[in-house]
Amino acid sequence: MANLNVLLTGVTGILGRHILYELLHSYASGQKKGILIVVIRAKSSQTGLERLKAVITHRYRPAYLTEYASNDLLKYIILIEAGIEELNATHLTSLKNFDKLYVIHTAAETDLSNTTTAHEKTFTHNYLATKHLLTWSMPKLHKFIFISSAFSIGHYKGVITDQYIQFDANGDPVLCEAIENRNPYEKFKIKMEYELIQYCRQHNKTWQIIRPSAICGRMLDEPLYYTPTFNVFYLFGKFLLACSLSNILRTGEKVRIESNPAGSMNIVPVDYVAKSIVKTFENDTIDQLNAVSSRQVPVIYLFQCMCSFAGIKCDLTEYAPPPESMSVVEKQYYETVGPVLSHYISTPIHQFDTTRLREIMLDIVEADIEKEFKNLYEFAYENKFGSL
Ligand SMILES: NC(=O)c1ccc[n+]([C@@H]2O[C@H](COP(=O)([O-])OP(=O)(O)OC[C@H]3O[C@@H](n4cnc5c(N)ncnc54)[C@H](OP(=O)(O)O)[C@@H]3O)[C@@H](O)[C@H]2O)c1
Repeated sequence: MANLNVLLTGVTGILGRHILYELLHSYASGQKKGILIVVIRAKSSQTGLERLKAVITHRYRPAYLTEYASNDLLKYIILIEAGIEELNATHLTSLKNFDKLYVIHTAAETDLSNTTTAHEKTFTHNYLATKHLLTWSMPKLHKFIFISSAFSIGHYKGVITDQYIQFDANGDPVLCEAIENRNPYEKFKIKMEYELIQYCRQHNKTWQIIRPSAICGRMLDEPLYYTPTFNVFYLFGKFLLACSLSNILRTGEKVRIESNPAGSMNIVPVDYVAKSIVKTFENDTIDQLNAVSSRQVPVIYLFQCMCSFAGIKCDLTEYAPPPESMSVVEKQYYETVGPVLSHYISTPIHQFDTTRLREIMLDIVEADIEKEFKNLYEFAYENKFGSL
């Protein structure tokens, strides 16, 4: 078996830790041979090593890892303690024995708002940091796997295929001018996709782009429903909890939510995404892949379900209600999470083409998100949407 050395970023986050769990299992069970290099920065008075150990020994780590002692798992890992922007020549020297690296770049700031701060954050930590990682790793790089976002296609009507980036007769990437991005996060994701391809072509390296949709808790591996943080659609639950704690929510009241009432959202379990990445990253026949669910969840179902936990009701309306008619909760909604969520629940009718993904994931049964949503949401609700 050939050595497979992988450098992984973002392992303290939602998705990165699940890719780490999957890869560690492959190494520890003897399915793969090689070394994992992780880049973790020190944070909140914890060293990178302490943070890594916390991920590996976490009480919600998948059950498939519990048979392995954490010290045994740590033997497969080399830690680089640094922020991505700080990676330098000395860090590269620590990789001198590892050539032909696969770099799986998961780290990013997921800020979907449309503010100047979000612009600066995503420009620096997503766009510039990815470019830095790419140039820094180039001497050791075999393949760069960029975790982008299925939403980098922006507002889109109809069937969405994996090929967001097309190629001209010379094989050069062509970026679709018509993409209507909703925020800087999406804009820098698609820009980076395009520049990654250009850069790798110039330097004769292979590349791959994998794009998850809205990530939710685990639905395949026990303990189910876990995710370390709750974002995207969970933000609405967080909002309702805050309203309830500040006593502005009246039982049975109806909240009007701006959306496409006939619209849907693509939600995908984190363990499904991690497995799809691990099954795909060595496959050079796949350049772009959306790691999404085959079935969309109706927005009306999602919101009615989340509202029922808070003891209220909702109406999905095409436009936000006039400010003078807004209830206290509605005012709060449109001042806080509404501007972020509205973009993702007012989407035109669309559907992802998951033909290729399902071929790759043939042996993995897809969870029925709609059927399981109550249980998934209940886990978040019981944990008060806090970090775990
Ligand atoms: N969550 C979703 O619904 C979703 C949907 C589509 C696509 N994605 C994409 O999937 C990937 C993973 O997302 P996620 O939800 O797992 O993110 P997350 O939970 O917010 O975690 C982000 C990770 O990136 C790390 N990071 C960010 N900036 C860094 C820097 N400058 N240096 C070192 N580490 C840095 C964070 O480290 P610290 O812990 O040190 O901050 C953390 O480990 C991202 O590329 C995201 O854009 C996510």
